[in-house]
Amino acid sequence: MSNEASTGSSELFGGNMKVRELVQEAFIKRFGQPPELLVRAPGRVNLIGEHTDYNDGFVLPIAIDRAVWIALRPRGDRRVLISSLEMETPGDFSLDDLQKGGRDWYEYLKGVAWALSGAGYDLQGWEGVMSSDVPVGAGLSSSAAIEMATARAFAQVAGFDWDPVRMAQAGRKAENSWMGVSSGIMDQMASAACQAGHALFLDCRSMYYENIPLPNDVAVIVLDTATRRGNVDSGYNERFEQCQTAAHHFGVKALRDVSPQELLEKGQSLDEVVYRRARHIVTENQRVLESIDAMRAGNLVRLGLLLDASHISMRDDFEITNEALNTMVSVARRLPGCYGARMTGGGFGGCAMALVDAGKVENFAATVPHEYQSEIGLTPSVYVCHPSQGAEVMVQ
Ligand code: GLA
Repeated sequence: MSNEASTGSSELFGGNMKVRELVQEAFIKRFGQPPELLVRAPGRVNLIGEHTDYNDGFVLPIAIDRAVWIALRPRGDRRVLISSLEMETPGDFSLDDLQKGGRDWYEYLKGVAWALSGAGYDLQGWEGVMSSDVPVGAGLSSSAAIEMATARAFAQVAGFDWDPVRMAQAGRKAENSWMGVSSGIMDQMASAACQAGHALFLDCRSMYYENIPLPNDVAVIVLDTATRRGNVDSGYNERFEQCQTAAHHFGVKALRDVSPQELLEKGQSLDEVVYRRARHIVTENQRVLESIDAMRAGNLVRLGLLLDASHISMRDDFEITNEALNTMVSVARRLPGCYGARMTGGGFGGCAMALVDAGKVENFAATVPHEYQSEIGLTPSVYVCHPSQGAEVMVQ
């Protein structure tokens, strides 16, 4: 995948049309005819609710207008041929011979095929060309976008309904069991179920979800620190285990079941670090619910304060921020028009996000790179994010 975030540009989102045209053209070049279908699935930025998904809690992501696109046509057999504009060698695999443990760039596609087959879907082969403008490793879920674009392709070709929850579950299974990467369900659900102009409220236990309109006159700005998570998996897995330890201590299935009151009453005998991890999850779940109220009331000041509190909790209690993320957030926070800012995604590098008054966006986007660079010496990227539609299919 290309890593556009590292170019240090400041740009408005809107690259999708370009990617769409590129995969269409490449398809014609490779297969001699226009594609029959186009699918797209977006990356995501999380407004609030970090590391709560695998604690059966609440999240509030937005689909960004950067996506994976696949131009394709069905095949009469059970083979999948896939090229990527970002990879040199094309992929080719049979749905009858899916073996784990490979290291091909198209493992995500194989993993999704495997997970969908395991969930009882009767798949059919297809051939296509894929490309993406979701920055990789930036915490914007480029892999969930690949998974959901792949699922969308299989659904359309085999003629089964797009059930966002089941598709997201298959994507997560591919990520966890095929790729061996621990994650919750948030990224796949954002990519599968978001609506343009909305954030997706998701209860990760019941899988109840609802699209909540973003208030008017405000923009979500993605701020790429130009740092990448190093050893993220160990950090992520460690947080996962600490949350499990805490849940066990409280005698519950997941930290979702612990109230702020119980945290205070029964948390004192916990190891100090584990207590802080639990406190982040318990308070973050509250913040998600309060954020929804603030959004519904159009109370941007309140929403911004909740984002700020979330960042502080991730910095001090969950300890998943780095110096670049903290610097970015403080730079954003002191600029005019910024209601609130926080790191977003798994942490340890990648992106922050800010909620900015629509009238101040231009000035904000122009000032952040300069201020950030002069403080930390790294060149960031700034994206004005237009909340987009989740995975979709276009018949040509
Ligand atoms: C990564 C994971 C998600 C979620 C976030 C943190 O993006 O893939 O499932 O846990 O981190 O909120």
